[in-house]
Amino acid sequence: MAESPIRIERKGAVGVLTINRPKVLNALDVPTIKEFARAWGLLEDDAAVRAIVVTGAGERAFVAGGDIADLNSRRGIAHWQEFAELIHRVFRRVELCDKPTIGAVQGYALGGGTELLLALDLRILAEGAVLGLPEITLGLFPGAGGTQRLIRQIALCKAKELMFTGDRIDAQRAVAIGLANAVVPKDKLMDEALALAARIAEKSPLVLKLLKRTLNAGADMAMDAALAHEQAMISLVLDSEDAHEGCAAFLEKRKPVFTGR
Ligand code: HXC
Repeated sequence: MAESPIRIERKGAVGVLTINRPKVLNALDVPTIKEFARAWGLLEDDAAVRAIVVTGAGERAFVAGGDIADLNSRRGIAHWQEFAELIHRVFRRVELCDKPTIGAVQGYALGGGTELLLALDLRILAEGAVLGLPEITLGLFPGAGGTQRLIRQIALCKAKELMFTGDRIDAQRAVAIGLANAVVPKDKLMDEALALAARIAEKSPLVLKLLKRTLNAGADMAMDAALAHEQAMISLVLDSEDAHEGCAAFLEKRKPVFTGR
């Protein structure tokens, strides 16, 4: 039987999803995206998983993009809709996931690979990682949500430069323009990503969920609506057992234990 293009494992409270097509630098074809969605659902539904790390198998790539052979095998609007609609649906689900998510990147994260990172909350890069949106060189543009996510996350002139030129950028530059959080030594990548995920996973899953919803929804609202939405969300938080546990733990000079209630 062929090896699955997606692996999932649990490291304590952290779920790790590995895209596993190293022979093609973990490029995303339709079966891989479908399997990714199935695996993502398992991690989302598992209450014991409080944070999710996404990485790529092998040393050469996180994800080198949408699978160009798969993309090129399609003709006609129905075929394009099949790929684009699927990847849009799945990346949106990733972006709106109620659990915190982290991309751990080694090697190439190009095209759909960078677009996947844009849908993840935090991005940790190994030294030597290479990001970029080379779609323009293929006669395409970043169509897995990348155009819209990028212009909402980094300065517009930098976003346009990346998309117009298709140039690759190194890890340090990616951090400098606000596309990623940190660069770490190659042999520390998973340790650092897992430690960050574990630190976040100790926090209240309920509060993280409401915080993520406040940020994701608020980012696209007018200010008054966003503030009203934030106020509604914090009202739920204030009334939670976890808020009382956190405040009580501070007053009693002990570590809080959050349950998500
Ligand atoms: C399919 C890919 C691939 C991809 C690499 N491979 N990237 N196959 N889709 N995106 C395959 C190669 O064909 C090759 O297969 C094997 O992986 C190793 O890659 P090489 O090119 O031999 O490695 P190297 O010379 O080190 O170059 C690495 C690279 C290059 C710079 C990352 O592979 C590259 O430019 N890849 C394409 C990157 C890209 O343009 N991504 C955007 C895709 S479009 P063989 O069989 O020869 O060993 C996209 C749009 C998505 O993402 C959204 C659409 C809606």
